[in-house]
Amino acid sequence: MSQQPAITFSTAAAPRKGAVVIFCDGDNNLGPWGAALGSGAVIAKAMKAGDFKGEFGKTLTVMVPEGTELDRIIVVGLGKVDDLTEHHWLRLGGKLASALKGIDRSDVMLELDGQTVSAASVAEVALGIKLASYKFDRYHTKGDKKKKKQDKIVLHAKTAANAKRKWAETDGVADGVLLARDLVDEPPNVLTPVEFAKRASALKKLGCIVEILDEPAMKKLKMGALLGVSLGSRNPARMAIIQWKGGKAKDRPVAFVGKGVTFDTGGISLKPGAGMGDMKGDMGGAAAVTGLMHALAARKAKANVVGVIGLVENMPDGNAQRPGDIVTSMSGQTIEVLNTDAEGRLVLADALYHCNKKFKPKFMVNLATLTGAILVALGSEHAGLFSNDDKLSEQLTKAGLDTQEKLWRMPLTPEYDKLIDTKNADMKNIGGRYAGSITAGQFLQRFVGKTPWAHLDIAGTAMSSPKTDINKGWASGFGVRLLDRLVADHYEN
Ligand code: BES
Ligand code: MN
Ligand code: ZN
Repeated sequence: MSQQPAITFSTAAAPRKGAVVIFCDGDNNLGPWGAALGSGAVIAKAMKAGDFKGEFGKTLTVMVPEGTELDRIIVVGLGKVDDLTEHHWLRLGGKLASALKGIDRSDVMLELDGQTVSAASVAEVALGIKLASYKFDRYHTKGDKKKKKQDKIVLHAKTAANAKRKWAETDGVADGVLLARDLVDEPPNVLTPVEFAKRASALKKLGCIVEILDEPAMKKLKMGALLGVSLGSRNPARMAIIQWKGGKAKDRPVAFVGKGVTFDTGGISLKPGAGMGDMKGDMGGAAAVTGLMHALAARKAKANVVGVIGLVENMPDGNAQRPGDIVTSMSGQTIEVLNTDAEGRLVLADALYHCNKKFKPKFMVNLATLTGAILVALGSEHAGLFSNDDKLSEQLTKAGLDTQEKLWRMPLTPEYDKLIDTKNADMKNIGGRYAGSITAGQFLQRFVGKTPWAHLDIAGTAMSSPKTDINKGWASGFGVRLLDRLVADHYEN
């Protein structure tokens, strides 16, 4: 992870020197600071010259403004102030990160005419700055390696004290998102199942209980579906079970389960070469679960939560499983593996079953970069939501809208379920030519019993995502903010 700006909060007045950020609404109203900085006329002139009308997220930099000792004034547009949501403030933070990059110290005056910017909004700005500043540059050895000192960004607001308190929590969520991004970005020779398990174990530092199952332990539990995927790999499989006990002792936990295929070649059903490097991100579900557990532990969520991640590498090899193999899952159900590239569901089958049996959770939500077909259906705008429970679906959908990690519900029905029946075993691991994301969902559903469950297919949203105000990189960390919100809204006491 690259160097992050240092973010602090203040109630002090605007400084007389350096870089100052002020805001402008869609009616060209500069608020209290335009005039106070002694440069109202200069700014007005610059706005006119730059055809700047205070549109949301637009910025205008006025260098060495006349009549002040400031280096620069950066005017940021807010658009229609009454329409600003929490997400707008998050995005504004992202815009600020870009505008202030490389400036040693910036003072951001979060104040509007007659309106106080709430502590929650100020914390969202800080979150946006932090998320947008992320860059995966660990493996660059050349270029800008001069140890430049950290940029400082001071957020000035009347609500600074409360914002600082709120940020103490939100900062933990931000760290969770960045952890998830780091894991997805890491190259597959570095982030093997064993290494991933190590990184999950680091959550012990935050007070999580972490158990790692190695291959003999999983054999003992009869996880034949997961272990079958791993047969072709020199890198042994792992399962990480992460617990955060922030709730009442007797409270049943909520559970999150992640697909952690550290590299997916397709196995013997080998993928075509073009773009195969992207399959280093096939552990995006496991990364989101790990990032989420980090977030919950860091902000000391008052909830009991388990995270289970199945970690394997899907490789072709003399010892790899073949199309046609029949494996027995931990549930006892047999699976005819007709395509070794439909491996994620095999990993999740055992992870979901084990999680359900061991913890009897209130619900299970699994995340997986499961199907290319979900990209065909939804692109990168929504993740697919598949569920056996309307209430859980509604809670998830709402959390998705609030965090703008959006979900779109897809169907599960007995008719689709039939598509994975086979004459040779209890089921096969592929459906027909059509409805590929749904048949994958139907497959998973056969391993969750009656427990309320949702499957999020994040193949389109976890990686190679379009650039946004708060994500400039390849990995998005999708799911961390979404599920943190789900827990915060409904499952904390
Ligand atoms: N990891 C892939 C799905 C994927 C595709 C993720 C593109 C991200 C981007 C998954 O294991 C897979 O290969 N799925 C197959 C299933 C098929 C063989 C039934 C697919 O989508 O083609
Ligand atoms: Mn695959
Ligand atoms: Zn895969």
